[in-house]
Amino acid sequence: MSEEINLLSLDLLNRFTHELKDVASLESLQDMHVQYLGKKGSVTDLMKQLGGLATEDRREAGLAINKTKDAIEHALSQRKAELILIEEERRLVQEKIDITLPPRPERMGKIHPISQTMDEIVTIFGEMGFVLAEGPDIESDFHNFTALNIPDDHPARQMHDTFYLPAKEDGTRKVLRTHTSPVQIRTMIKQKPPIRVICPGRTYRCDSDMTHTPMFHQVEGLVIDEYTNMSHLKGCLIDFVRTYFNIPDLKVRFRPSFFPFTEPSAEVDIGCDRSGGELKLGKGHDWLEILGSGMVHPRVLENCGIDSSKYQGFAFGMGIERIAMLKYGIPDLRTFFESDYRWLSHYGFLPEDTPSITGGALR
Ligand code: PHE
Repeated sequence: MSEEINLLSLDLLNRFTHELKDVASLESLQDMHVQYLGKKGSVTDLMKQLGGLATEDRREAGLAINKTKDAIEHALSQRKAELILIEEERRLVQEKIDITLPPRPERMGKIHPISQTMDEIVTIFGEMGFVLAEGPDIESDFHNFTALNIPDDHPARQMHDTFYLPAKEDGTRKVLRTHTSPVQIRTMIKQKPPIRVICPGRTYRCDSDMTHTPMFHQVEGLVIDEYTNMSHLKGCLIDFVRTYFNIPDLKVRFRPSFFPFTEPSAEVDIGCDRSGGELKLGKGHDWLEILGSGMVHPRVLENCGIDSSKYQGFAFGMGIERIAMLKYGIPDLRTFFESDYRWLSHYGFLPEDTPSITGGALR
């Protein structure tokens, strides 16, 4: 009796091996799995016959069936691995695209002015030795406010029109960062001076009208070492605005201001002409504010574990939409985020318009 089962299981294995040769897809492999090893499969059927055997025969027959079963399992998984590889190869060939083909002009995508402007800013500061730094959009209250010398009861918190996330059990609430300045804090906590970073990114304020959108972009700069002073701040920012706007004699004015995290603080204006209802940069006798800056407050350095008797430096922050609108003559802020394809094909940039330090994008 047990011999018969031995034969049957050998037979089964032969049949299986033969059939396996023709299996060319993962689906039919799965079918075979069910057919042989499934609940109603051939191996299981054979197992059921064991019950009818005498005890002394059962062991031997059981071993034979198990051997067949192991062999089938092994062959199935080996074939599966082969088929996965074959499938991958097939997809690689099928999905191959020729990246050397020229783009079809009617289908060509454009770079959004925000991305372009960020690239231009990072390129210019990159040439001055700044490196890119980033931080999360969802910030802790500590990084966005407290460490920046904006305590709990400070009016600046209201001024920022903060979006708060729901409070956690311990009472703390995360915020959507209201400026890129928390990246200053993250950088100084992580890295010892000398520091020279440029940090573009998204920022959020609960404000929406002609000139405000709830999400907008800023770029932050930070320089910390043992000797950097206000004249470096001025030189660096004058060089930046003249390069960015591509106006070598652009007038620049530093006007005293206040930020809790810088002392002294200055806002930067550029010379322009507003007569005749049109704005012209680099001409005339009017001024236009474009960024905030200052020497990093000693308390902010200390909050990040940096010795303020040894180290000092400056920081600045500016709105990216604003300086993009000025440079590229985009009249309405809200159109940046409407995803209107006509707007993008008009104001967008060709991928080849790589920013250069000698004047940003060529248009
Ligand atoms: N964080 C300030 C703002 O959002 C700008 C700023 C950055 C000012 C760094 C000084 C130094 O208005």
